Amino acid sequence: MKLLKDRILSEGRALSKEVLKVDSFLNHAVDPELMYEMGKCFKEYFSNKGITKVFTIESSGIAPAVMTALQMNIPMVTLKKQKSKILNGDVYQTTVHSFTKGTDYELTLSKRFINEDDKILIIDDFLANGEAAQGAARLIEEAGAKVSGIGIVIEKSFQPGRGILEGKKYDVYSLARIKRLDEGLIEFV
Ligand code: G4P
Repeated sequence: MKLLKDRILSEGRALSKEVLKVDSFLNHAVDPELMYEMGKCFKEYFSNKGITKVFTIESSGIAPAVMTALQMNIPMVTLKKQKSKILNGDVYQTTVHSFTKGTDYELTLSKRFINEDDKILIIDDFLANGEAAQGAARLIEEAGAKVSGIGIVIEKSFQPGRGILEGKKYDVYSLARIKRLDEGLIEFV
């Protein structure tokens, strides 16, 4: 997506070989018009897959996910990153490890918001090691539903996420794919 790549080049900052800071339009400040255009791109790519719901993971996935759901005219659900206080069988829950942040969290989904006929599109802001997407997929599949696609705003293609997800036969579509990062350098695939 050219508009996104241009923004990454003009406002993104490579903090190291691993981390790209894009807090002026995606992770802190959010540009609604850019999110709207992202929603259109995701809709275009995933439109013929019979998708019934968009799922995302809080918090930075919410803006692109809600725009995608709006474009596709389907509901959107946010997976929570906190342990449910009442584990009374009403929720699906799985532990996700973040290599980037060195932390674990419990990804949680209420059983009310999914059923086994659902075909789910997962949207997230970054793809690094693919742990968050795999955690979301585990919850969806535990519910008996299908993961029909994974849409990523910024993929760090030098990290293993895409390979792992494709190895599991998921259809991964990223709006921007980064080949290399270094201080002051951002290179696309
Ligand atoms: P993975 O799911 O692909 O394995 O990614 P990982 O756990 O390593 O990433 C965890 C968090 O770090 C995610 O945010 C992700 O968006 C963010 N992240 C990973 N790489 C980058 C990067 O290069 N730049 C920026 N800005 N963020 C990155 P999160 O914990 O879910 O936080 P939130 O912002 O969604 O609330």
